[in-house]
Amino acid sequence: MKNFIIALDGPAGSGKSTIAKIISKRMNLTYLDTGAMYRMVALYVKENRIDDYSAIETHFNNIDMDIVGERFFLNGRDVSEEIRTPEVTKIVSPISAIKCVREKLVKRQREISEGKSVILDGRDIGTVVFPNADLKIFLVASSEERAKRRLEEYQKKGIAQNFSDVLADIKQRDYIDMTRKESPLKKADDAIEIDTTKLSIDEVVDNILDLINRKVGE
Ligand code: DC
Repeated sequence: MKNFIIALDGPAGSGKSTIAKIISKRMNLTYLDTGAMYRMVALYVKENRIDDYSAIETHFNNIDMDIVGERFFLNGRDVSEEIRTPEVTKIVSPISAIKCVREKLVKRQREISEGKSVILDGRDIGTVVFPNADLKIFLVASSEERAKRRLEEYQKKGIAQNFSDVLADIKQRDYIDMTRKESPLKKADDAIEIDTTKLSIDEVVDNILDLINRKVGE
């Protein structure tokens, strides 16, 4: 099979990372969680108390990111858990709306994917990062269902949160991600939309595996 690029986009909590991890293992593809890269920048901003986001570009030389399997390293430190905390989640959307942040990370995403078969999950993969991706999927789900899933994830990690805060955060992130000037979250014209609200993980995976097999057979 030639290098095959799958773009998996959609709003927060639509199931992208769960699905992408399974598909990557089943199809032996590299998985790139692009949201984690934006989260690493957000963690750096938080830890270094950078209040003036317009100054972020001057810090780029001090931000070294590394991805090893499913672990994420910021300046050599494993931050895989820290980048998922509610504090980072709260600031990541405004930070990811900054043009120079996007340019830097999009470039990196293309470099990482060079010469490989990759499934990338994010917001702008099918529209900006890989507009010629072999397969584009856009996952959606109701905001209540997405908040429920996020709350369950927090509970599993022992992070105390309540449903209404998580729902408000999801809605706020949707708003920022969809209305930002730079690469807003939107379905590419040629993406296939799957509503996961009432589907099990297995059903979504089977659906996507079918689409991949059909594409590969074309
Ligand atoms: O998928 P996630 O929740 O980990 O993403 C975190 C934030 O990063 C999200 O609010 C929007 C942003 N993001 C983005 O703008 N573009 C991407 N390709 C991936 C994530």
